[in-house]
Amino acid sequence: MAAFAPPPGTADIFPAESGSWRFLENTASQVFSSYGYGELRTPIFEYTEVFQRGLGGETEVVQKEMYTFEDRGGRSLTLRPEGTAGVMRALTNTDVANGTEQRVFYYGPMFRGERPSAGRRRQFHQIGVENVGRCAPLIDAECIAMLHNFLLKAGITGAEFTINTRGVAADRAPAEAALREYFAKHIDSMCPDCRTRLERNIWRILDCKQEDCRKIIEGAPDYVEFFSDESKAYFEEVKTALTRLNVPFKVSSRLVRGLDYYVHTVFEVTHNALGEQIAIAGGGRYELFLPGEKRPIPGVGFAAGVERLLMVREALGAPVSGGAAADCFLIGLDGASRMENLILADELRRAGKSVALELEERSFKAQMRAANRSQAPFTLIRGESEMAQKIAIIKKMDDGSQCEVAESDLLNYLLEHI
Ligand code: HAM
Repeated sequence: MAAFAPPPGTADIFPAESGSWRFLENTASQVFSSYGYGELRTPIFEYTEVFQRGLGGETEVVQKEMYTFEDRGGRSLTLRPEGTAGVMRALTNTDVANGTEQRVFYYGPMFRGERPSAGRRRQFHQIGVENVGRCAPLIDAECIAMLHNFLLKAGITGAEFTINTRGVAADRAPAEAALREYFAKHIDSMCPDCRTRLERNIWRILDCKQEDCRKIIEGAPDYVEFFSDESKAYFEEVKTALTRLNVPFKVSSRLVRGLDYYVHTVFEVTHNALGEQIAIAGGGRYELFLPGEKRPIPGVGFAAGVERLLMVREALGAPVSGGAAADCFLIGLDGASRMENLILADELRRAGKSVALELEERSFKAQMRAANRSQAPFTLIRGESEMAQKIAIIKKMDDGSQCEVAESDLLNYLLEHI
């Protein structure tokens, strides 16, 4: 059969891998629940303006990467490129606007039209959380510590946390002026994108991945110096709390994050198994305007990339968990025994056993091969002669020993032994 691959940047997740995905989701759900978070499921597509307004029109994601299409009525819709904007849209319908705190987590597919490469997909999956409605440095620290705990519980040791502050809107003008003065001097040796960024959104320059630009960025002034005393104190308290919580981190004023909604604390997590350019998780504090609200609603959160977490787990030699093996495999060598096997499998499954069986007419050899492949520890075998004697043969696969069991005892025998 000719191979028919899915579109570039997407992948099929087969049963051999999906156990590891479920493990990560279950671990996330356990850890996040212990901090009072509940799961929120939002639609996979939203009205385009949810992301345009939420993430900022100048961001790379909005400008170049969104999958946008029109619905039948001509309204513009977009496959979600991230989770935060949709969560905030959903929370419009709750009393979060009145200052009630909401703690939610989510997982699921996100879509960005990026150039696919190792660890970069067009459909990827995030596990994320949002703590909405409150603003305090200790909340930011608790959120980062929760991510740290989750990674450890997920078997990911050696993750590196980098944090920074983006200040608040009022802090930015003096900081921007210092950055503009510096970059204006070097702009001729920078990439065309950075030239545009100098005019339109200077912070994006700090995020540029081009090697020549990176060298110039290294020499940029430490703009945090220009932030207000309140913003600096906020950041100090986050750092103190993280130290008290034993979360190791480093501080880098080059970390600005690719989305426009951030204020105060931002953070990113990398792992040396994947290198510095590929973050396994990122997040920060943000302010987002809910439709119809005059004041922005504060929140803090993060998202981790599931594919990237799995790559790190693999590099660390963590076991890959696939689908569980069946408890018993049923072989039927004629039509009547296959019918009885179907009924028996149904009874066993209702009693909580996991059963695999062959229901099509196939040779004994082929069915035995399937039984071996299934890794079930027991195989039941019956054909015309066993049916006539009202018995079945039960074979123990590890030592090859077998016994005959009367049809009338079969269900009880299997429930007891397999
Ligand atoms: P982000 O940094 O854009 O943040 O994405 C979070 C994580 O998603 C990344 O660290 C990475 O692991 C994964 N990721 C992003 N793009 C791709 C891709 N193309 N292929 C594979 N993995 C990818 C956000 O999305 C924010 N909404 C996080 C947040 C929540 N901030 C506050 N609350």
